Amino acid sequence: MRVLVTGATSGIGRQLALDYHRDGHEVWALGRNQAVLDELSTEGMQAVRLDLEDRQATLEWFAAMTPIELAILNAGSCEYVNLPHFDSELVSRVMRSNVESMAVCIEGVLPLLRQGEKPHLVGVGSSAAYVPLSRAEAYGASKAAIEYMIKTLRIDLYQEQIDVSLVCPGFVKTPLTDKNDFSMPFRLSVGDASKRIRRGIEKRQLEIHFPKRFTYILKALSLIPEPLWIRISQRMVRNIG
Ligand SMILES: NC(=O)c1ccc[n+]([C@@H]2O[C@H](COP(=O)([O-])OP(=O)(O)OC[C@H]3O[C@@H](n4cnc5c(N)ncnc54)[C@H](OP(=O)(O)O)[C@@H]3O)[C@@H](O)[C@H]2O)c1
Repeated sequence: MRVLVTGATSGIGRQLALDYHRDGHEVWALGRNQAVLDELSTEGMQAVRLDLEDRQATLEWFAAMTPIELAILNAGSCEYVNLPHFDSELVSRVMRSNVESMAVCIEGVLPLLRQGEKPHLVGVGSSAAYVPLSRAEAYGASKAAIEYMIKTLRIDLYQEQIDVSLVCPGFVKTPLTDKNDFSMPFRLSVGDASKRIRRGIEKRQLEIHFPKRFTYILKALSLIPEPLWIRISQRMVRNIG
């Protein structure tokens, strides 16, 4: 299988690229960090340096590519809002990095998936989108947008028999979460996350969320009345601070 992974130079994406390569698939690993790209290339992968926020360069690269069976759009970043200053530039940065760059990849990769066998498009969102979480005004909103975009694409690509999956991880130990200054319940290793994502992809699950003991709690909390959620989240903020 020809597998494309964005954000393959760190964390979850790097582990997915390594695992798919180890399993004998042809992996196209995209990222910006040249040193890691060189390592992936030495391993035998097709490592490509691309800033996905550069729309033109990204679309040009995809236009020159050959068919893909599995595209895992995983690249992203996380920044938290710190009130009292609501930093709109931070919001724009996070939206560009998570939502707009994924949209550019979707534009570029769809024609390649249409030429591939049993095509599968996978977008990495986050369980952070399940409930409003303190300081996640930008990150949570970007992941909610990804959830909507991916779930809508699933409807619109159904006739073309292109499967579409959404990945919603809980906490995974990566450079992205190493920056967090709060407790992260049930945080998994990248190896564990990769195994769960690959298993979900193999089963063509619509939503691949894990660890279930964490994501089901968040899903249940999303159903409680909002005033109650505000009181619970206030207590969480006090415990963190
Ligand atoms: N870790 C978690 O707990 C967690 C939980 C829920 C969801 N997620 C999501 O999972 C995905 C991967 O997260 P991670 O924890 O593995 O993060 P990470 O270790 O920080 O890796 C992020 C990857 O995205 C790439 N990237 C970011 N912006 C890019 C751009 N403009 N162009 C090209 N590549 C870009 C980075 O490339 P370079 O390093 O080469 O710049 C890096 O390879 C993200 O979408 C994140 O939101 C993570």
